[in-house]
Amino acid sequence: MKVIQAGIGGMGNTWLNAVKRSDAVDFAGFVEVSDDIARAQTDAYNLDPARIFQSLPQALEAVEADAVINVTPPQIHREICVSAMEAGLPVLTEKPLAGNLEDARAIVSAANATGVLCSVAQNYRYRPLTHTIKAILASGELGAAAAVRAEFYRGPHFGGFREEMPHPLIIDMSIHHFDMMRFLLGSDAISITARSWNPPWSWFDGDASAAAVIEFANGVQASYIGSWCSQAFETSWNADWRFECERGVILVEDDRVYVQGLLGVDADARGAAGAHDDKREIPLIGMERESQDYLLHEFCEAVTQGKSVGTTAQDNIHTMEFVFGVVEACDSGKTVRL
Ligand SMILES: NC(=O)c1ccc[n+]([C@@H]2O[C@H](COP(=O)([O-])OP(=O)(O)OC[C@H]3O[C@@H](n4cnc5c(N)ncnc54)[C@H](O)[C@@H]3O)[C@@H](O)[C@H]2O)c1
Repeated sequence: MKVIQAGIGGMGNTWLNAVKRSDAVDFAGFVEVSDDIARAQTDAYNLDPARIFQSLPQALEAVEADAVINVTPPQIHREICVSAMEAGLPVLTEKPLAGNLEDARAIVSAANATGVLCSVAQNYRYRPLTHTIKAILASGELGAAAAVRAEFYRGPHFGGFREEMPHPLIIDMSIHHFDMMRFLLGSDAISITARSWNPPWSWFDGDASAAAVIEFANGVQASYIGSWCSQAFETSWNADWRFECERGVILVEDDRVYVQGLLGVDADARGAAGAHDDKREIPLIGMERESQDYLLHEFCEAVTQGKSVGTTAQDNIHTMEFVFGVVEACDSGKTVRL
């Protein structure tokens, strides 16, 4: 499969390397608006400068491609995804599907109208940690989950669009955790109460901290708290988690998964204080490919063999509605129902 990659700076590096590692995918060309980045990446990756174009239409004119990988900033996603699909090329786009809900819905409409695949890179789903939690929940060992808590604290200095956008934490980062909630619970958010704030020392223009309480269609209650300008005791990018289940708890700390339950406790003794099994660490499930490598392989099989993908734009619009529901709840101070 030959792809055009739009956006080769920043996160574009991850995709340049994922394609390099793949036996099944090769580059037809690139789209990059910054001459400096185009020059630097030509040197770093030994790219053919004649195959780097200023716009997707120019690239489509000049090279034969089977698909597009979109790694531009969110406000450009609609333009790239819709142009690709209208040209008949499937697109694998970085999250968020778009910079706002209107653009995201326009991408879904284009996917429906053209019948062309738009896959969204919600890579946090495709990690050993997430798969391990999903497997524990699916095993039924601990019974159904009734409540979930996720906590995320980091303090990255990225520069660029994130430091100027509104709600950088929620739209650019928490989207991964909200999408993980959808994936792990197999359900969609229906009601959101939330609040956001910007700590006095924040280097972001928009609110870099937020807390939300979310109800899911299957009755699970979730609480989320996060900050993108935390100065110490950082959590993993995957966040720390706690799942309150009928017969025990799943605890995720620093990318390690623990369970404690009632499996070994005699039915008559279950009500007694402290009556539970010892804390057990669960080894992470091994995956042949993860994150962007997983997504690229899945996308390639969809394009070349017609297989399905887990995170289509049509599915991802529910993650986008969740994210922008949290934004609306923060801005309005009201409970948002989806
Ligand atoms: N899945 C993840 O874990 C993850 C991590 C980081 C970033 N991302 C996503 O990747 C996307 C890009 O983020 P980034 O951090 O690389 O941003 P960035 O600003 O560092 O890089 C974007 C690149 O796109 C180029 N570009 C801008 N407009 C363009 C256009 N019209 N056509 C072609 N190229 C254009 C820029 O010159 C730059 O090289 C965002 O949607 C971001 O949310 C995802």
